[in-house]
Amino acid sequence: MTLEERRAQLKPYFYLEPMQLEDIPEVSQLDHRCFTNPWPLSAYRRELANPEGNFYIVLRQRLPGAQLRQEEAENNTLARVSRWLWSEDEQDPISGYAGMWIRAGEAHVTTIGVAPELRGRGLGELLFVALFEEAIARDAEWLTLEVRVSNDQAKRLYQKYGLTRQGVRRRYYSDNGEDADIMWSESLRDPDYVHKVEALRDQLADRLIGDGVIQPRRDDANPRY
Ligand SMILES: CC(C)(COP(=O)(O)OP(=O)(O)OC[C@H]1O[C@@H](n2cnc3c(N)ncnc32)[C@H](O)[C@@H]1OP(=O)(O)O)[C@@H](O)C(=O)NCCC(=O)NCCS
Repeated sequence: MTLEERRAQLKPYFYLEPMQLEDIPEVSQLDHRCFTNPWPLSAYRRELANPEGNFYIVLRQRLPGAQLRQEEAENNTLARVSRWLWSEDEQDPISGYAGMWIRAGEAHVTTIGVAPELRGRGLGELLFVALFEEAIARDAEWLTLEVRVSNDQAKRLYQKYGLTRQGVRRRYYSDNGEDADIMWSESLRDPDYVHKVEALRDQLADRLIGDGVIQPRRDDANPRY
């Protein structure tokens, strides 16, 4: 098979990784496409400066060209050398991001966004479930967030994971004076609730792996995704 034929076979796939300082300019560009009140760059820098208390991730897209180079690099030495020469390997573009801070047993989701052209494919849910997993791993008892009262898509996602409206912050958003619904999860220390979240996560992973949107994890300890 020629390289061009192999390239035509490959589809882009997505993966998550921790947000790094050098990702901030690209995240900020996406932030401007996702929100009418995007954060200043300094806010991201401040959040990343405290990894013990905060957790920020990006969703990257691995494009066919990069997959092909990776295959080539794994398969022969000459390509491994030429891969090194391929100008920084053209970083995989960022298609989504999410974050939260964790204090006093509360995981507070501060942001989540997916590139507009990639919405409705399960990627926002993938980011959200990654926050859930980390909140549970860090022994938070609750997950909470604010959401614009008009943001039906986001609220639907949160409701799917058992979050309910527990209050409202009047005129919370300074750009248009809109109210925020305050939503809370059930207790992350309740095994029944955690099982529900895990079941949703596994359904999502099976769907996304089946569609080739994400790749199964390679480590044997957790072979699903
Ligand atoms: C909210 C957001 C991250 C969702 O991302 P997404 O990739 O489109 O969402 P997904 O495809 O993963 O959908 C997951 C769930 O969200 C809900 N949902 C997503 N889009 C929806 C829509 N257009 N209508 C109704 N429900 C929707 C559904 O419950 C869906 O689950 P389902 O597939 O089982 O129906 C995305 O819309 C976004 O970036 N919005 C702008 C930024 C924003 O408002 N962030 C939230 C701040 S609180």
